[in-house]
Amino acid sequence: MVDKLGDWVRTHTCGDLRGAQIGQNVLLLGWVHRVRDLGHLVFVDVRDRYGLTQIVVDGEHLRDRAKHLRAEFVIGVKGRVRARAPEALNPKMPTGEVEVQAVEIKTLSEARVPPFVIADEVTANDDLRLKYRYLDLRRPALQANLGLRHRVTLAVRKYFDAQRFWEIETPVLTKSTPEGARDYLVPSRVHPGEFYALPQSPQIFKQILMIAGTDRYFQIVKCFRDEDLRADRQPEFTQIDVEMSFATRELVFAAIEPLMRDIFQVIGRDIATPFARMSYADAIARYGSDKPDLRVGMAIADLSGGFADSTFSVFRDAVAGGGVVRGLVVPGAASYSRKQLDDLSAQAREMGAGGLVWARRSGDVVQSSALKAAGADAIAAVLAEAGAGATDLLLMAAGPAEATSKVLGALRLDIAKREGWLKPDEYAFVWVVDFPLLEWDGEEKRWVAMHHPFTSPIEAHMDRMEQEPGQVLAQAYDLVLNGSEIGGGSIRIHDNALQQRMFRLLGISDEDAKLRFGFFLEALEYGTPPHGGIALGLDRIVAILAGESSIRDVIAFPKTAQAVDLMSTAPTPVSLAQLRELRLKTDA
Ligand code: AMO
Repeated sequence: MVDKLGDWVRTHTCGDLRGAQIGQNVLLLGWVHRVRDLGHLVFVDVRDRYGLTQIVVDGEHLRDRAKHLRAEFVIGVKGRVRARAPEALNPKMPTGEVEVQAVEIKTLSEARVPPFVIADEVTANDDLRLKYRYLDLRRPALQANLGLRHRVTLAVRKYFDAQRFWEIETPVLTKSTPEGARDYLVPSRVHPGEFYALPQSPQIFKQILMIAGTDRYFQIVKCFRDEDLRADRQPEFTQIDVEMSFATRELVFAAIEPLMRDIFQVIGRDIATPFARMSYADAIARYGSDKPDLRVGMAIADLSGGFADSTFSVFRDAVAGGGVVRGLVVPGAASYSRKQLDDLSAQAREMGAGGLVWARRSGDVVQSSALKAAGADAIAAVLAEAGAGATDLLLMAAGPAEATSKVLGALRLDIAKREGWLKPDEYAFVWVVDFPLLEWDGEEKRWVAMHHPFTSPIEAHMDRMEQEPGQVLAQAYDLVLNGSEIGGGSIRIHDNALQQRMFRLLGISDEDAKLRFGFFLEALEYGTPPHGGIALGLDRIVAILAGESSIRDVIAFPKTAQAVDLMSTAPTPVSLAQLRELRLKTDA
């Protein structure tokens, strides 16, 4: 039987009561977390966003009522706060000093048996959690994540307001702006056969806002990309999008670093600024990745010199063929077992390396998988060159430079993870700078923009774009935190002619450019201030702050890796009538 709420208004939340309220009459409203029936006494834990409070029910009439309560019923309780018996004190609960002796109980809503228990320690199947997201969200950990996300966005808005940025909304129904992923399209009823695209980012609009004289813009904005999904990617995600007129790279960094400080203050952490910087070329060579995780050292060293004239033909031939020998010193890993070393080699081969050579010292002797082929002296020399100490292990691979570093970089991360060296509450920021402007797309057989087509080359390289497209560096930068790309941006092209050259380099004909970007190219001709900016991935930042490994855990209603919303079941077919109105036919 369900009662009416009537004039019941809560006096406290379920997380409020402390010793100071002992003796007060209170009214609580919330969900039944747990019922413990001791016969003569019934304990009911009542829960809301703020916490849990223990209710004690005695007296025959009320006890019968309490015995009918089940998990997730919504109830109201009038009662008096009293001190718990000394043996029942619970220092782990903020309300653990007190309990409420019930005087009256109302059942406001009954609940079916939930498909999983609502408690942080319960790990239910992921799909079930997403289908019943409203139940999953009742778990304190997810509530805390939503609260954290709210406080982060609040800090972002306060920061930008104080810096004289304006938050300006850009359209959601717009024209396709390529950022490397596929667009989500929205058919127009009024213009049959024509489509809007959902923005992959507000890139062109924020640039036009600079042309419009807005000077400093930011927006906490949803972006949509139809791309392959992973733990750190959702088809719709949120950016903290930023653009500044008359910006240089230094001005953008100087705007973003204090923002990150404010964001980390939300969890009470002081982060050090300025952030480290590293060129893209160094990041790839020394860490095998353009998003290096700098919580650990273990930089990859070039050891090619030691093998140019070696008796070890595999490495010598690699160097002679224009390749490299590179190595990674794993601290304290000289004690790895044969099996561990074999597993690492197998892993390297799986990643496409020809093989992995290990070397270490054991007292005065050197040991290595290439000892016979290379000779003890050469191994001792390379251990010294790599800076490997008595207890360290040196892992080496040979081949083309980038591929070799990538294999060693992946091993570096795997080992660091396995050894527990990547602490989730340690924060290593780095600006990765000096990206190439373009990269060669082997499949499409054309140059594609490494960031996006609106990124400016560095001034010194502007006249070499057509002659040596692969050598041109961009005024682009990524912000990397603990191996995750949390932001990317650039100084933009603000000159119509340069923008057109860029489109041509990307194989976009003048005609096509006019069709797709004509409005933007025209806008560039009406007095465009030099400008630049960045977009930060809000979901990724909040996930790192929350210590979550997937951004799903900081998004209220996320989608699966197949881009499905298991709760609403979107996407779904639509009625024929709807399709007809849009003049659409599907052959699915
Ligand atoms: P970019 O494409 O690098 O740049 O995106 C900026 C940041 O957004 C986050 N991000 C994502 N987060 C979750 N799911 C996704 N699918 C996803 N894709 C990107 C990342 C990334 O660093 N317009 C440019 C920005 C600019 O040049 O100012 C842009 O969108 O953290």
